[in-house]
Amino acid sequence: MITALTRAVSPAIGQCELTHLARQPINVALAQAQHHAYEAALHSLGAQVQQLPPTPHLPDAVFVEDTAVVLDEVAIITRPGAISRRPETASVAAALAAYRPLIHLQAPATLDGGDVLRMGRRLYIGSSGRSNQAAIEQLRAALAPYGYHVVGVPVSGCLHLKSAVTLAAPDTLLINRQWVDSHLFGPLRLVPVAEAEPYAGNGLLLGETLIYPAGYPQTAQRLAAAGIPLQLVEVTELVKAEGAVTCCSLLITGP
Ligand code: GLY
Repeated sequence: MITALTRAVSPAIGQCELTHLARQPINVALAQAQHHAYEAALHSLGAQVQQLPPTPHLPDAVFVEDTAVVLDEVAIITRPGAISRRPETASVAAALAAYRPLIHLQAPATLDGGDVLRMGRRLYIGSSGRSNQAAIEQLRAALAPYGYHVVGVPVSGCLHLKSAVTLAAPDTLLINRQWVDSHLFGPLRLVPVAEAEPYAGNGLLLGETLIYPAGYPQTAQRLAAAGIPLQLVEVTELVKAEGAVTCCSLLITGP
């Protein structure tokens, strides 16, 4: 059983944080419709979707991934790098407490869950504008007893590590090598994003299927040629808010 925590798109999403993108008008109704379709995709792939309480006053709260890191044994409640996003964590912690013991990162650590790429017992943490060395050290200390190895990796040119690289299959990385060094991750099969689609490195693996933005057809073709089953979703409005498909859910495995 997989539970996917999600949160409704805020009517204030147009005031979201932006780091690498210029602000563009966001069609809130379309963003909400795209988010509903994303939730339907999660459901169609077997996840039970649990909606967190809406927080209409928090523009970025739809991007629930940044507030926590859910592992098999424990969940880490992050301290998001953007101050405006810190009020998002309390309601996520309240929901996750039903599933896992919680560990709260403490100042001066800052971490966005979008910077955490898990591969088995190894957690790669992007040293981005949002996530810092103190977070890496706190995670390392907290997770060593559970057998996790925490590795910091440099990332540049994008918001989060998972803007640059995600798992497209257990043995396959979807990656923008302009933003992160592929050699850091060991000998895995690589699907590089198409040159014209730098933001195409973010897909959400659920079972054997990759939930993937419809807006990157060249990279989608590469993924399909690599034998990766895709479920395409339209996320144009969420992308304008510097979001992507992993950002919009927290996956919890198990009862
Ligand atoms: N707008 C997404 C973020 O900055 O966190």
